[in-house]
Amino acid sequence: MKNIAILASGTGSNANEVAKYFAISDDVNVSIILTNNPQAGVLQVAERRFLPSVVISKQGLQKGDLLKILNALQIDLVVLAGFLLMIPCDVVEAYEGRIVNIHPALLPKYGGKGMYGMRVHEAVSAAGDTETGITIHYVNEKYDEGDIIAQYKVSIKAHEDPELIREKVQELEHKYYPRVIAGLLNAKRAEN
Ligand code: GRF
Repeated sequence: MKNIAILASGTGSNANEVAKYFAISDDVNVSIILTNNPQAGVLQVAERRFLPSVVISKQGLQKGDLLKILNALQIDLVVLAGFLLMIPCDVVEAYEGRIVNIHPALLPKYGGKGMYGMRVHEAVSAAGDTETGITIHYVNEKYDEGDIIAQYKVSIKAHEDPELIREKVQELEHKYYPRVIAGLLNAKRAEN
């Protein structure tokens, strides 16, 4: 059995897709959903899917609480799904190559601190790009700079409405994030 932890700060639509995908799996278990935001929609996702959830404060993150939880639950893969706080160094070190994130654009474009949510799609629209997409990547100590695992693209119109861009990108996220996670866990199984 492989255990995953999902970390999210917002609505949790990706967390929901990942949890749904593995709900019928015999060998992958979503052990916990963690958030820094007590108002986050992802807590309802956890409730609806009967998954344990924990709210962890920024101070808690910094003083080692996240690492303690991940270790206690023997987490194999940490899945970030719209988690807005920096992952602390102790966790990045201990879980090197075992933390993944999804970014709603084609990195290295439109990444970095402060580039999240609609800001990304607004920037893509303003630039007049005719394609955008998603990037699934490993997490290191810098925002959006870890090694890229996979990217998927979608065509858009130049200066397309950012809301339409968001919808197209979200479709890619929901389709591919669970599959890429499953692929990574399979590869890890083969290594062991
Ligand atoms: C997604 O666009 C994801 O790429 C980014 O944060 C957003 C989370 O959305 N990292 P949701 O809460 O899963 O709907």
